[in-house]
Amino acid sequence: MSAELSPIEKAKFAAARRAVDFIEDGMRVGLGTGSTAAWMVRCLGERIRREGITVVGVPTSTRTADLARSLDIPLITLEEAKFLDLTIDGADEFDADLNLIKGGGGALLQEKIVATASNRMVVITDAAKEVSHLGTFPLPVEVIPFGWQSSRNQIEELLGGMDVLGRQTTLRMQDDVAYRTDEGNFIVDCHLNKIGDARALAIALNQIAGVVENGLFIDICDTVVIGDVNGKIEIRDGNDGRVTREQLDFSGDTAVFTPLG
Ligand code: A5P
Repeated sequence: MSAELSPIEKAKFAAARRAVDFIEDGMRVGLGTGSTAAWMVRCLGERIRREGITVVGVPTSTRTADLARSLDIPLITLEEAKFLDLTIDGADEFDADLNLIKGGGGALLQEKIVATASNRMVVITDAAKEVSHLGTFPLPVEVIPFGWQSSRNQIEELLGGMDVLGRQTTLRMQDDVAYRTDEGNFIVDCHLNKIGDARALAIALNQIAGVVENGLFIDICDTVVIGDVNGKIEIRDGNDGRVTREQLDFSGDTAVFTPLG
């Protein structure tokens, strides 16, 4: 394993490396977005190259699609796939019930569509993202640009009546202009600090006109794979409550770190 990787990147790599073992020959796999998911895509590319397994991927962003193509991972659209066997993705936060906040990378809409079209969602993460209550990480809410201020006002009004600690919202920016998602939408980040009832909030947010989706993933994730810097892996299964601990052997993984051509 590369000595230059930071401890957090090593932990992300460990989780990603273990999670690709869930992929079986012939599967249709949702490919998540973000730095942890990028390791997973690289590890999948390596498995395809080494083992010759036949897998098709459905990417959750143009970034992931570009990375997968550069690794010769065959891609299809969700329309072509119809359903997926498995989706592997990162998260910004997860709690004891394996509910998540996602969307720090702005891809929450495609990520939620792909995850909910899958038989199983596996989240890959490091331990620092575990929380007792969701909400420390700002909750992303995707809104269409038309009348976005009105949607934002309604989000703030809604938050006034919800069990949350903070109610400030900000329009996500990039290079001094509003950030645009792959669908051309805006993201309103909600600084809530602590969400008392994530399920109720997720439902209520999606009732607001102009809101396309929110970053709360409730009852969607089946399994969390938590990696650490030394290759220790903890796998939590949300369906049967089982927790498995393993030690990964990184030797032989050096090809994953080869710069992409
Ligand atoms: C992308 O929109 C997000 O949902 C990511 O999955 C999430 O932000 C985790 O990203 P990292 O793996 O980069 O921390």
